[in-house]
Amino acid sequence: MLRAVAAGRALLLSALLWRLAAAGNPELPTAVNITWSSINFKTILQWQPKPSGYFYTVEIHGQTSDTKKKCILTAETECDVTDVLRNVKETYTAHILSVTSSGMDNFEEPPFAVSEKFTPYSQTVLGKPEIQNYTQKGSKLNVVFQDPLTPYTFPNGSFQSIRDIFQHDLEYKLYYWKDQSSGKKDATTESHKFEISVDNTKNYCFYIQGVIPSRRENRNGQESMVLCTSIGRNILDEYGAEVFIIIAVIVIAVITLAVVLSVILCKRKKTKAAREKEPLNSI
Ligand SMILES: *[C@@H]1O[C@H](CO)[C@@H](O)[C@H](O)[C@H]1NC(C)=O
Ligand SMILES: *[C@@H]1O[C@H](CO)[C@@H](O)[C@H](O)[C@H]1NC(C)=O
Ligand SMILES: *[C@@H]1O[C@H](CO)[C@@H](O)[C@H](O)[C@H]1NC(C)=O
Repeated sequence: MLRAVAAGRALLLSALLWRLAAAGNPELPTAVNITWSSINFKTILQWQPKPSGYFYTVEIHGQTSDTKKKCILTAETECDVTDVLRNVKETYTAHILSVTSSGMDNFEEPPFAVSEKFTPYSQTVLGKPEIQNYTQKGSKLNVVFQDPLTPYTFPNGSFQSIRDIFQHDLEYKLYYWKDQSSGKKDATTESHKFEISVDNTKNYCFYIQGVIPSRRENRNGQESMVLCTSIGRNILDEYGAEVFIIIAVIVIAVITLAVVLSVILCKRKKTKAAREKEPLNSI
């Protein structure tokens, strides 16, 4: 009988505590506008608003892996979650908890917001490839480039490239065109170089971009810088026809001036000579 009462009281008390806990901190705002930004597997989670009087803690939930906490009690509105997304083919969601500093060791569940799902392998953006060198010899244009690196390392400490992760899902496209024309052509490679046939009398410009053909979104990566070859450039190519026109105009002006001047001088001489003769005539 007494036990039943005690049990009843305990139940009542825990129910009361549970209600208190559920009430939590109802006034704490939760994160909004949560975005994932990820390039070459470096992944940053961002959200709003700036906290005032509370903190955020990020929890990363995978499908199979344990929940991991990042940026515990941060006053920032972003968190680098790269190292907890190492299992790149897994799909993750982030919970952004709003907590007071004392709240964490309490039993109460802090209010939180849930991000959209994110799968690094299919969503990280391919960064710019780095062009190492290029040559145009005869009718061959050769371009050598490097894979962008990821923040992940091999056991020996060297960084993995995006090729190490994507393997045969990754290819690169070279877009090239004759300098000062707009007709673009492209070539594809799975290696680190392009060798294409070009017109040996023309200069070419080009850039490179990583591509993952199997993706539905974010298929094309960032574009490398544009570079142009410079075979047998003569002064006319270098400076254009305008400079020649300007030089020609100046030369013509100088010649005209010289002719006009000499004509004037000549006339003066003649009139002077005529004047000198005059007195003789008049005498
Ligand atoms: C969330 O994003 C929307 C649209 O970009 C913006 O209008 C709103 O102010 C943002 N919310 C906060 C809390 O900054
Ligand atoms: C690029 O540079 C490497 C070494 O610097 C050289 O061996 C290679 O031939 C160069 N490739 C081209 C296409 O110029
Ligand atoms: C580290 O290991 C990777 C893969 O096993 C290999 O490709 C790379 O060359 C190694 N790097 C060094 C510096 O040994």
